[in-house]
Amino acid sequence: MKVNKVVFPVAGLGSRFLPATKSIPKEMLPIIDKPLIQYAVDEAIDAGFSELIFITGNTKKAIQDHFKFNPDLNISNLTEDKKNFLSEMHRVIPSHVSCKYIIQDEPLGLGHAILQAKEAIGEDPFAVVLADDLIDSKQGVLKQMLDHYNDENSSIISVQKIMKSESINYGIIEFKEVNKDLMKIINIVEKPSPENAPSNYGVVGRYIFSSMIFSMLDKVSAGVGNEIQLTDAIKLLLKTNPIYSYKFSGTRHDCGTKIGFIKANIAFALNNPNYSDELKIYIKNLL
Ligand code: G1P
Repeated sequence: MKVNKVVFPVAGLGSRFLPATKSIPKEMLPIIDKPLIQYAVDEAIDAGFSELIFITGNTKKAIQDHFKFNPDLNISNLTEDKKNFLSEMHRVIPSHVSCKYIIQDEPLGLGHAILQAKEAIGEDPFAVVLADDLIDSKQGVLKQMLDHYNDENSSIISVQKIMKSESINYGIIEFKEVNKDLMKIINIVEKPSPENAPSNYGVVGRYIFSSMIFSMLDKVSAGVGNEIQLTDAIKLLLKTNPIYSYKFSGTRHDCGTKIGFIKANIAFALNNPNYSDELKIYIKNLL
């Protein structure tokens, strides 16, 4: 089953990262030298997605600019090395991949953001990627999920084991084990207290949905945080369609929080041979 379309909800206000996000979308914050949104887009393109749909806010022009050719980066009179480097940068989006930008006028929540893609998606199954969830893995998580996806009436959501005390940050699933990678979801609750959490598996921002999710998003009213929650639509969808959760391989960094963002920068730099030796010595001395 070929899934071509992927939605990136990037309209959030990024208020946790103010003042950095006053004029720059939080998805443009870099891990070393690459913005978060580009990690997400690269993962999708590597997995074979060819239609990228960004749900953006009015102040998010930088994301659109990032994926466009920049004539100011004139490469005509540069050395060969620099030319190669710059032409690499210009090739952010390969020519067989299209980008669509849809404005979410009001920040009414993740569910509302995804609902804005209803017309663009139509009847097709599609993926959703939350760029805040940066995942370091040998094989991209979307690719891993596609390998387990074979029925356009079902959906797959990626999950990871979390500490129960952290349940207030996640959609938490109740499940029946299917095999070592997949679990069938029986129920899902958005950001429950640890006492009310049905398990210690939390949803991470990679989803493949049947287009039926839109009918459910149409029905849900404001939930946790007074926002239209994707989790509430998933809960409704469970009544008619199977939804599986997938235990991905990889390390997830929660770049929606400052500490997660700092840790991600350190982890990526320690994994990068250009910086790791110097950084290790630096950290050792600091400590
Ligand atoms: C969203 C979802 C939540 C999910 C999380 C993963 O929450 O609502 O169910 O577990 O993403 O990052 P947010 O982090 O946007 O508050």
